[in-house]
Amino acid sequence: MNDTYLQNTPAGKPGPTPEIIRIGLFGLGTVGTGIFEVIGKARNAHAEIRRICVRDISKPRGNDIPQALLTDRPEDILEDPEIDLVVEVIDNPDAAFRIVTAALCKGIPVVSGNKTMIARHLPELIELQRRHKTALLYDASSCGSIPVIRNLEEYYDNDLLLEVKGILNGSSNYILSRIFDHDEPYAEALAKAQKAGFAESDPTYDIEGFDSLFKLIIITVHALGAYVSPEKIFTFGISHLDEADIRYAREKRTKIKLVAQVVKVNPDEFTMFVMPEFVDRSKYIYSVDDEYNGVVIRGECYDRQFMFGKGAGSLPTASSILSDVMARRHGYRYEYKKMGYLDIPSYTTDVPLKIYARYSTTDLPSLLPFREIQESYVSPGYKYVVGEILLSDLIANRHLLDAPDTFVSNFPRFFLDRD
Ligand code: HSE
Repeated sequence: MNDTYLQNTPAGKPGPTPEIIRIGLFGLGTVGTGIFEVIGKARNAHAEIRRICVRDISKPRGNDIPQALLTDRPEDILEDPEIDLVVEVIDNPDAAFRIVTAALCKGIPVVSGNKTMIARHLPELIELQRRHKTALLYDASSCGSIPVIRNLEEYYDNDLLLEVKGILNGSSNYILSRIFDHDEPYAEALAKAQKAGFAESDPTYDIEGFDSLFKLIIITVHALGAYVSPEKIFTFGISHLDEADIRYAREKRTKIKLVAQVVKVNPDEFTMFVMPEFVDRSKYIYSVDDEYNGVVIRGECYDRQFMFGKGAGSLPTASSILSDVMARRHGYRYEYKKMGYLDIPSYTTDVPLKIYARYSTTDLPSLLPFREIQESYVSPGYKYVVGEILLSDLIANRHLLDAPDTFVSNFPRFFLDRD
């Protein structure tokens, strides 16, 4: 066996070849420790973790990471001329933004998994990459181990894409799977997702749909060349789900999944939103369970394609980080080609949705401007309405859905039937 391979160990010993990429790692949580392990396993990686910046250097790590690699001073990485690449996998999006911008401004390429930070600042981060002629790669930010960003950027570099839709959050999908397939209570399922390391440190991000939202924003940049900021996008999660909704879904022979979608509604416009959806057996995502993610890509000439894989967890996410590290070793960068196209579709919310809305204290049928009511049910313990409403009206009245005894779920529809 070649010596170089033997020296590509978790201890981070440099091998004899100058081609080894020397990494400064920020963050040693679930994903950071996974990266350490994955780089140790990947014999062709030719990568070495040179330094690890953590918040609390005295925290017992309980693994075989050498203490000498640890620092709590970002400058030990950012000012080390021997570091070729920064890998950023910390939790705090503001601190992550400071680190990533500092590295890019110094011309150091960065691999990041921080979807919150990237989705909020992508236009600025693209500009920094251009100005400093360096790269920020972030396939790990969206759908864990599924290589969705690089595929959208490179393979789907045409204007035939009609829709990218799917399950982008492992924790909420895990919870819904435990509820629908194992009859487990919501709180127990959430605790398990946290224990397994799928959930964000603030699980509200997972269950209220924000994690899916941030991933959807990133995906849309690479799918259609359009950036839409988070506050403009309708987002509703699964925290208000209750027994009555589960029963309703089962009666319709569906499962409720938290679905994020970006869809062309006509040749010049697209829409996007995150909300629970009734999914029947005929759909690929019906069988996406536990912490898995599934992304359906629909196009004019090829109908549908489906990408499936683990969307959360230490090693799956770390494997995606390693893939970006290796891509960078070969000089890869996103070119954001679609952002320069002549015809970038515009974002619209002027689209009709068919939704189920359960309510109690807030009288949704009279307060929400439904264009048509197709079904309604009122009993002492359970009231719901099914009807058509414009997405723009749903956004304008989003505050009405905040009451915990309110839940909405979407019925899927094709906006543009071009198959
Ligand atoms: N909390 C995220 C999820 C982690 O559950 O999908 C991966 O992004």
